[in-house]
Formats: sequence, structure tokens, C-alpha cells
Amino acid sequence: MTLIRLLAAVAIAVIVVPAHAAVEGHTFSNTRAFRTTHASLDLTADFTQQRLKGYVDLTIEQLAPEVRQLTLDTRDLTIHIVRLQAATPAPLEFKLGKRDAILGSPLDITLPATLPGKTFVVRIAYETSPNASGLQWLTPAQTAGKQQPYLYSQSQAIHARSWIPLQDTPQIRLTYDAHIHTPPQLLAVMSAGNDVNAKRNGDYRFEMPQAIPSYLFALGIGDLAFKPIGPRTGVFAEPVTVDAAAREFSDVESMLTTCEKLFGPYRWGRYDVLILPPSFMWGGMENPRVTFLTPTAIAGDKSLVSIIAHELAHSWSGNLVTNGNWESAWLNEGMTTYLERRIVEALYGTDRRAMDDVLGLQSLQRDIADFTEKGAAQLTRLTPNLDGRDPDDNFSDVPYEKGRLFVGFLEARLGRAKLDEFLRGYFDHFSFQSVTTPDFVAYLQKNLLSQPGINVSQADIQEWMEGTGIPQIAVLPQSDAFDRVDVQRQAWLDGNTAPNKLQVQGWTTQQWLQFLDNLPADISAARLAELDAAFHFTAATNSEIAHSWLKNAIRAQYIAAWPRLEQYLTTIGRRKLVRDLYDELVKTRDGVVRAKAIYAKARPLYQVPLAQQLDEMFKSV
Ligand code: BES
Ligand code: ZN
Repeated sequence: MTLIRLLAAVAIAVIVVPAHAAVEGHTFSNTRAFRTTHASLDLTADFTQQRLKGYVDLTIEQLAPEVRQLTLDTRDLTIHIVRLQAATPAPLEFKLGKRDAILGSPLDITLPATLPGKTFVVRIAYETSPNASGLQWLTPAQTAGKQQPYLYSQSQAIHARSWIPLQDTPQIRLTYDAHIHTPPQLLAVMSAGNDVNAKRNGDYRFEMPQAIPSYLFALGIGDLAFKPIGPRTGVFAEPVTVDAAAREFSDVESMLTTCEKLFGPYRWGRYDVLILPPSFMWGGMENPRVTFLTPTAIAGDKSLVSIIAHELAHSWSGNLVTNGNWESAWLNEGMTTYLERRIVEALYGTDRRAMDDVLGLQSLQRDIADFTEKGAAQLTRLTPNLDGRDPDDNFSDVPYEKGRLFVGFLEARLGRAKLDEFLRGYFDHFSFQSVTTPDFVAYLQKNLLSQPGINVSQADIQEWMEGTGIPQIAVLPQSDAFDRVDVQRQAWLDGNTAPNKLQVQGWTTQQWLQFLDNLPADISAARLAELDAAFHFTAATNSEIAHSWLKNAIRAQYIAAWPRLEQYLTTIGRRKLVRDLYDELVKTRDGVVRAKAIYAKARPLYQVPLAQQLDEMFKSV
């Protein structure tokens, strides 16, 4: 070894060894010294104990030869054995560090002085905790079919570490394979190659040949049936739901071909959807090859299919080109929201797209007002500082809708053809890589802004990336269909028109949301009763319309909706739909009492991180 290399290695060792002195990027792992390239899982799902048990073999590449301590991320795992997989496997010393409330516990593994090679394999035998933040164990009663239990994972943002010990950061990409053991009557599905004709026997094998970040590791196990939609698409769902799901999402194959036309080839093979139980705290999760989806998206009229357009679009922005840290989440979510709207426009027309854009903007404006009021205006930046914060808390509408406004701004300034060309080039250039905001800005600068005749300045980009709130230069969406809704709402509010005389024929879900979301905050219960008599909102089954109505009902103390509110909160676990209803309830003393009573019944349904957030919220009221 030359002196220079030796010095460099020592320098790296000095920087890296005190690995958790300063935690960077929500991981304890020393990614500058080691890089995982493959994980091989062998796990048994024990539904009685609500634990996954087994081992993972991590293939690890050594980047800094002198470093002898490998640190991985874990949360609430019990580690049984760590050993080096060599001709004669050797047990390795390991230590689980102190548990951090956000990051979990570092697992420090001491490696031997000589390793088998630059690349080596470490086996970790472990089991998960019944409260693993990234796993949801459901009893048969909490499923659609009520006969069999269900398990699903949710790894994003930093929950993979609660079911696999690994380098839990989107800077690292790895391939994986898995051998999953389940009760024989259940089927397992993973973010990998799924055999849609798999025989149910409790023994399933998966290969994921494309390198993915840890937050895309995913597993679902349940009484699942499969129904094809198109040649590359289909749904996995419980037998009682699978037909309705396949009908609702029958446009998925055309969404896929539309996406390919706009953004380049789909690189993942199949695109299937797994319908989860209502506990799922997200609308959808873009697990590669198989999107995990809330059952509340099955509205009966395709009105909520934009969730699938969104998750599918992540196959480009997110899964192919991945945000390198959670501060750059807008690169995943803002880009994807823009792509989602393009799919909606291509399939359902510009009116529907405009409505989605306007609803998104209004929601962004509400979030910005909330953050600003709470003195957290820095969270309204596309590049927030998330040091010491749970990255899940960054998932407001800011990365989504402000990010989408930024891409819309580029489109307005460059023209659609040029933007599309840029996006295709960006997806190609960074395919299967992780990108942070500075990487993106440098690429934008080099490939677009430096070209002649481009009407976007450095200052514009800086304003978007670093400014708070919505920049003056944003191009705000507008919807004629919503203008008509506003006219009708006003006519009713002014007392000029009875509800049954309003021109509401043929209104879509989005129009009703525009109507309900913008009722005055001080509307009376009597006035809501008038609307209810005409439009039966309390009985609405569309999860979004019911949500908007119930929010108004809580504000106005419209007690006729109380039983529906309780039913809603005890049967739906999607965070976006549930959390602000509790927030609204606890604004009054009487509401706190009711909220607590409902929460006591609803809590077992809610996914672990949502229940934890609500527990915290209830402590402060
Ligand atoms: N990747 C997100 C879900 C997510 C974000 C999980 C942050 C964990 C942490 C997914 O793509 C998403 O954005 N879902 C939205 C869908 C909506 C924007 C159509 C959701 O769940 O509401
Ligand atoms: Zn998303």
C-alpha cells in the first residue's frame, strides 16, 4: 500500500469509526466504509406471536479497508447471531446501541482483521417485535374476508430497519432474493418478481434483480387472489374484493402505456397492485412491481384512481431515480405528482387534471398556513432541514404540490416538448441512482438552463429551492368546472337558491370536494342539515367526500353525523383522512371527550406509526 493510500484509509477510519457521533441522513450505518449490494432473506411469518423470524445474508462491499466496525440500522429487533459466511463460518461480536426514538438502535458488528475478500457476506439471525413500526399484523376480524390474518410491511421512510437489519438509507441500492414461509393457506407477495399463478403452499421464493433502496423492500401476506387486468398488470386482493378492485383499476394497463410514451420504457417487468386492509395509513405505496394500495381507493366510479397513476409514476421518479435523502423528498413526490397529473390528463382530459391541480393547490395553501402559524415556515421549503426530525413528518403537501408547481413552472417557461425531453433525459441519466437536490440543480443547470434562449434564471431556481411558501413566479392552476361550483355554492350561501335547485347535475367527486372543502368555517349545523337533506352527505360512501363532509360536521357541531363519524374513524386508517378529523375534534372540550372515546375503539385498527402519532397528540390535549 502506498503511503498516500494508507493515509487516506486512516483518515477515513478516523472519520467513520465513531459512526454515530453525528448521524447523517437518518441512518446510523457507515455508508462511506461499507456498501451492501445484495440481501438474501429467509423469514417465517409467525402470526401467533406476530413476529418475523429468520435471517438475512447481506453481501457487503468494503470501501475503506481499515474500518473494522460495520454499523447497521435496526429498530426493536432481537438479534440472535451474527456471523461471517466463509468456508468456516465465524461468529462475530456485535452490540446493539441505545435506542433513539426516531432512528432506532445501531447494530455494531466487529469484523475480523482479515476478511475473505473485498466483498463478504454477513448472516444475521433475528426476529422482529410485534410492535415493529414497519409491519402491520392484522387479525382476521380486521380484514375484508374476516377468515384469515394479514400482514403487510411499510418501509418508507425509515421503517425497513424494523423488519430487516440493514443500511437503511436511500443512498444505498441493493438487489434481493427472499424465501418466505407462511401458513399454507396464505399467499405472500413482495416488491420483486411475483408469480401470479403461485400455488398456495406456504413456501414462496422471490427474486428482485433490480437494485432498489431499502425503503422499497416490501412484503404482504394474506388470503390473496390474483386477477389480471392487462398483459403486464393485475390485482392481488382478498377474494371478496378482487373483482371490484380489478373493475375499479381497469385503466391501469393504459396508464402504463401512457407513461412509457411520455417518460420512456417501464423498467420493472410487471406492474401489479396489492389491495391492503383499511388499516393502511397511506393512500398508496410505490413498492416496485407491486403498488400497495388503500382499499378506500375503490370508490366504485374510478374517481380515486389518480392514486394509482401516482404510484405507477414513481416507477420513474422515485424507484428509478431515487431521492438520496429525505430532505430531497420533493424529487420523488413533486416530480411524481406532476407525472401523475400528466397521466390523468392523458386518460381523463384536461378538465379533470385541472381540478386535481386546484385541489392540490388548496391543500398546499392550508399546509403552508398551518406551518407558518406554528412557526415552522422552514418546512414550507422544498429543501427543509430535517435534522433531528422524523422524516415521516416532512410528508405534508409541500414536497408534493410545491414540487409539482415547480415542474409546472418549468413547463410553462420551456414548453411541454422541451420539458418532456429533459425529463426523459433525467430519468435515463440517473437511472438506478440516488439524487439529492444539489445533484438535480447541477444537472438542470448543465443540461437545460445553460442552453441558449432559456427563460429561467439562477435566481428563479434558487427561489424555488430555498424560498418559503409559494413563489410569486409560480403558475397557478385554474378550473372552469370549479368556477361553476363556486357560483352554485355562493348562490346557496346567499340564500338565493334552495339546495334542490342548485345546478349540480353530473358533478364529479372532485367538484363535490370543491363544494365541501370551501364552505365557510363558521357554517351552522342547521345549514349543513339543509345540504344533507338534499344530497345525503352523511351517507356518502366515497372516502374523500365523507372526509370533507365530516370535517364540516365537526366544525358546525352537526350531531346528526356523529354516528357516521365514529363509524368512519373506526373503519378507515388512512392518515390523510383520519388525522385532521381528530385535530378538528380536539379543538373543543366536548370534542376531546368524544375523540378519546372513538380513539379507544379505533386504535387497534391503526397502523403502528399513526397510533404513535395520535397517542402523542392526545397527550397534549
Ligand atoms: N411514497 C408515498 C407514500 C409515503 C410517503 C409513505 C412518505 C411513507 C412516507 C406514496 O407515493 C404517496 O405519495 N402516497 C400518497 C398518494 C397520493 C399523493 C395520490 C398518499 O398515500 O396519500
Ligand atoms: Zn408518492
